[in-house]
Amino acid sequence: MQPEPRPPQGEHLPGEDLVRADRIHRSYGAGGTTVWALHETCCTVPPGARIAVTGRSGSGKSTLLHLLGGLEQPSGGTVSWPGLGRPPRHAPGLIGMVFQGPSLLGPLDVAENVALPLQLAGTPASEAIAAANEALDALGLASLADKLPGELSGGQAQRVAVARALACRPRLILADEPTGQLDGDTGRRVLDVLLQTADALGAAVVVSTHDPAVAARFAVRWAIQDGRLDTQPAASPAAAPGAFRTPADDPLPLAAQ
Ligand SMILES: Nc1ncnc2c1ncn2[C@@H]1O[C@H](COP(=O)(O)OP(=O)(O)O)[C@@H](O)[C@H]1O
Ligand SMILES: [Mg+2]
Repeated sequence: MQPEPRPPQGEHLPGEDLVRADRIHRSYGAGGTTVWALHETCCTVPPGARIAVTGRSGSGKSTLLHLLGGLEQPSGGTVSWPGLGRPPRHAPGLIGMVFQGPSLLGPLDVAENVALPLQLAGTPASEAIAAANEALDALGLASLADKLPGELSGGQAQRVAVARALACRPRLILADEPTGQLDGDTGRRVLDVLLQTADALGAAVVVSTHDPAVAARFAVRWAIQDGRLDTQPAASPAAAPGAFRTPADDPLPLAAQ
């Protein structure tokens, strides 16, 4: 995949942080049943950043990524996107999101799913499908272009979701456990494509993972535990293999991918 850098548009401010979270927290429920998914925290994602967010299942990784992507509102504090010029809901395509769970639309085939964010951002259908096919090809998925999501394995669907996030040539990629359902080799290749595409686009990447081998490929590592984010953890996850694993985190067996 040879993506063209996205041309400057609108009020985009090149040197500004892509995301700034200022004293945000996120809780669910009320009273004695309140769950603190994210305790009060501040963090920023500068242009070109390579950040891995590590933590066990239930520690708050998905919550943090959803807040940074503007998909969820914080219970308190503010999230802003000065480097994008506008909040993500007014700037479709500037953030490429890879969701942890199933996220493909069942009635659309794979190429249409990958093309959808581009079309929502105003790209003509034929161009969007061409970009989608290019992204699918980069991930070794060209043969799946006309399949329906229901015909895919969990691992294939996860790779299609990565292709969808990259096809719109975003400035910021938020990938929530993008290799969680993949075997080691496939996961490495997916991460290769993701990082190479980000390099070509000059995009920033924030990946959540419980896998120290994935975290080790990122220059910056944030650790999250019980909703408490540490943007300068003392210990590198790479130095403590297995430290973030739980049985629930184990990938599907190869045959299921
Ligand atoms: N919609 C929700 N309602 C209630 N609790 C939630 C909701 N979403 C997440 N949580 C809780 O918030 C915590 C953090 O969840 P999550 O961000 O999904 O963690 P992770 O991605 O690290 O597994 C967990 O205790 C989870 O059960
Ligand atoms: Mg999660």
